[in-house]
Amino acid sequence: MSKYQNDLILRMINGEKTERYPVWLMRQAGRILPEYRAVRASLSGFKELVETPELAAEVTIQPVDILGVDAAIVFSDILVVPEAMGLEYQMIEKKGPWFEKTIRSDEELHLISDEIDVADRLSYVFEAIKCTKRELNNRVPLIGFSGAPWTILCYMVEGEGSKTFSKAKKVLYSNSALAHKMLEKITKVTIQYLKHQIEAGADIIQIFDSWSGILGPAEYSEFGTKYVRMICDAITDVPVTVFAKGAYYARKELSELNCETIGLDWNMDIRESRAIIGDDKTLQGNLDPCTLYSDFTVIESKTKKLLNSFGNKRHIANLGHGVYPDTDPEKVKCFIETVKGFAIN
Ligand code: CP3
Repeated sequence: MSKYQNDLILRMINGEKTERYPVWLMRQAGRILPEYRAVRASLSGFKELVETPELAAEVTIQPVDILGVDAAIVFSDILVVPEAMGLEYQMIEKKGPWFEKTIRSDEELHLISDEIDVADRLSYVFEAIKCTKRELNNRVPLIGFSGAPWTILCYMVEGEGSKTFSKAKKVLYSNSALAHKMLEKITKVTIQYLKHQIEAGADIIQIFDSWSGILGPAEYSEFGTKYVRMICDAITDVPVTVFAKGAYYARKELSELNCETIGLDWNMDIRESRAIIGDDKTLQGNLDPCTLYSDFTVIESKTKKLLNSFGNKRHIANLGHGVYPDTDPEKVKCFIETVKGFAIN
């Protein structure tokens, strides 16, 4: 017997027969709920929320209570890792992340360190996980996460968001030795970080490679998958999900990783992905988040079409990327309720 009141997502990941598909949304914590904005408004900013475990736990649990999802994801950010390694970030209102220091040359490599006390520097994340686990009281499993090394390198080089991340790609093409040194350091810290998350109570780990789509197959294999593979090989205690957004060209390579679940974005066809990846993995995704701007009947029919395409195979229903901030929570509920009402026979 599982300790969870609802362990559907874990059973699905394990390849057990389930009554329906589990559902949660990437970026479900924060962004869309007025209840989140109310907590956020009382604080100095995003970082205060991330760094205050009781409040991070509160907004982590909100989507479980309000939306009825089958898993919680800890409220934090992928950027806490570059910060712990030496590059402090700011989250600027309506603009996004900003780093004062960046690494674009060998001379700047010393700005990051992999010889840090991860347990201490990122203690607020582990406390948030422990606090969330206490308050969730075994209702649903908790997902922990990190960015993939390539995506973290993108922010370390660029210092902010970008459409092309061409400064990061410039390092990759003009100084690949520096790129590899950075990726090695990020990987080492990320493995420790994820192990501490698991120790604190994370039941599933998701690795977000948000910028894999800007590379081509050869580059992603050398600078992307290589390091994600090291993380997958090191994390053996809980199931791992790899979400490499835009890496449709790498699905075969990703299918060979030591992970249980592969996340798909909405450009990837479900049946084609299943044929490439095979039946040994759980797939996750992939409704276009913009579908939730449609009216209720369209959301319902597109969701059912998606569910039918799963073909009774191992699948976790989700969007193809994070839910957009201006999405009506009622539309999100429509997606979730449609998944919950769809029986697997
Ligand atoms: O899934 C969840 O709800 C858990 C929390 C979570 C956040 N960020 C909170 C957040 C997760 C899993 C992330 C991951 C993350 N952060 C990624 C990978 C996933 C993806 O979307 O591709 C990336 C690339 C980041 C970096 C980041 N953080 C950016 C570019 C921004 C600004 C724009 C945005 O996405 O909102 C953030 C800020 C951020 N992280 C917010 C939240 C709730 C909004 C901040 C606010 O409340 O003001």
